[in-house]
Amino acid sequence: MEKYLKVENSSKLYGSASLVGAKNAVLVIMASTILTEGKSTLSNVPHSDDVVHMIQLLRDLGAGVNFDKDNHTIEIDTTSLKKFQVKREVMKKMRASILVMGPLLSRFGKADIALPGGCVIGARPINYHLYNLRKLGAMITIEGEYLFAHAPKLRPQRLVLEYPSVGATENCLMAALSIKGTTTIINASLEPEVLDLIDVLRKMGASISMEPPATLVIEGGKVLKPINHTVMSDRLEAGSLLLAAAVTGGKIDLPQANSHHLDVFLMKLEEMGHDVVRGADGIGVSLKATLSPKAVSFKTAPYPGFPTDLQAPMMVAQCLASGRAVINETVFENRLQHVHELQKMGAQIKVDGNRAIITGVEELYGAPVAASDIRGGCALLLAGLAAKGITTISGIHHLSRGYESIQRKLQGLGASIEYIDEAPLLRNDQSQKRTQQWY
Ligand code: EPZ
Repeated sequence: MEKYLKVENSSKLYGSASLVGAKNAVLVIMASTILTEGKSTLSNVPHSDDVVHMIQLLRDLGAGVNFDKDNHTIEIDTTSLKKFQVKREVMKKMRASILVMGPLLSRFGKADIALPGGCVIGARPINYHLYNLRKLGAMITIEGEYLFAHAPKLRPQRLVLEYPSVGATENCLMAALSIKGTTTIINASLEPEVLDLIDVLRKMGASISMEPPATLVIEGGKVLKPINHTVMSDRLEAGSLLLAAAVTGGKIDLPQANSHHLDVFLMKLEEMGHDVVRGADGIGVSLKATLSPKAVSFKTAPYPGFPTDLQAPMMVAQCLASGRAVINETVFENRLQHVHELQKMGAQIKVDGNRAIITGVEELYGAPVAASDIRGGCALLLAGLAAKGITTISGIHHLSRGYESIQRKLQGLGASIEYIDEAPLLRNDQSQKRTQQWY
C-alpha cells in the first residue's frame, strides 16, 4: 500500500542539520568505479533509492558491493566485473543508469543498455551523449528501447557539447579516459557534482585539466586505480533545508553546506530579505528568516546559475512572499508540474510556457497533493509546512529517490510530518478558508 506524508503547519523551524552526500555526485562516482579493477571505498553516501538502484546495477555487472548504511560507507570491488549488459528493468528504474555507458566503453569497448527514457520533467534525450561517443569512434545502434554500443578502437577527438549537459560531459569524459592521446570537451558542464567526479578520476590516476571558459582536456590511456573518496555534501538538500526555515519564519544552521556551491541561490534568498551567514572559506551556511519576505524573480541555468533542482522549492518561497515573481525554467522543458499542486493549496501562479508568474499570498491552505518528481515533491513538503491545516502528499517514492530522509531532518527542526497509510478525509471543520471540500 502506498504511504502518504501528512504535513501539518509547522511554524518557525529552528536548529542545526547535517547533510548527506550529493545524489548527483555519488551516482556517477559509483559508475566511475567500473573504470578500475579493485576495491574502492566511498564515504558520505546517502541511503537513497537511487543509490540502492545503482548498487543493484553494479552487482548485476559482477561487482561486489557492500553498503554500510549506518556509516554511509560503500565498498565497491570491480575486480571480477565482466559483464557489459545492463538489464532493461534496472535501466528503467533510474535515469542515471545511462552514466555507466562511458565507463563500460572504456573498460570493455562495449555497452549493451536500454535507453533511460524520459521522465515527468522532460523527454531527456541522450543525443549529445550519442553524437560525441560516435565522434570518439563508438558504433552505436538503437533497436527499439535497446542501445548497443561497440567501440573496438576509440580515437582522441575535440568534442563540442552544444549544451553543457551534465550527463553527456560525464559519459564522454569517462569514455575518453581509455583513449591514448588528447581529447578535449568544449562547453563542458562544470557543476560541482561534475567537479567531484573529476576529483575522483584524478585520484584514480587520470590526467584531466580544465581550461577557460569550460574546456576539459583529457590525456587518456592511463591505468586507473581504485580510490577512497568522501562524496561532496548535497547542495540541493542544503538549499531545500534553508528554504524550509525560510518559508516557516525559522532559523537554521548547516555546518557542512558549501556556500560556494550555492552563490546565486543564496543571493536570491538575501534579496528576499532573509539573513544569510556564510562560514569561512564557504563552509557552513545559516539562515534567519525574515517575517516579511519580498518576492524575487530568477531563471534557472547551468552552474553557476540558479540550479534547476532548486526551482520548485524556491517557488514555494515566492508563493508566500509579497509582490510578484517571475520564474523562468530554462533547463528542462516540463519542470513546472508542481504549479498545479501548489494552486490547490491557494498559491496564485500563472504559467506561460516555461515561465511561472507568481503573486504572493498571505497564506497557503493544506490540501491533498501529489508529487510527480523529486524536487517537486520537496516543494510540496515545504508548502505543507507553511500552510494552514493539513497537507497529505502522495507519490512520496519520488522523495526517497533523491533525499535520504528529509522528513526526519525536518522533524528534528520542529516540523510536524508523519507517514500515514492512507490520505485522511479533510473535514469541513478544518481551518480551511477554501470553499472546496477536499476528499
Ligand atoms: C543531471 O541530469 C542531474 N541528474 C539532474 O538532477 C539535474 O537537474 C541536471 O543534471 C541539470 O543540472 C543527475 O546528475 C543524476 P543534463 P542530466 O544532461 O545529466 C537536455 C535531480 O532532481 N539534454 O544537464 O540528465 C536535457 O533534456 C535531477 O536531482 C539533451 O537535450 O541533465 C535537459 O533539458 C533532475 N540531450 C538539459 O539538456 C542530451 O543528450 C540538461 O540536461 C542531454 C541533455
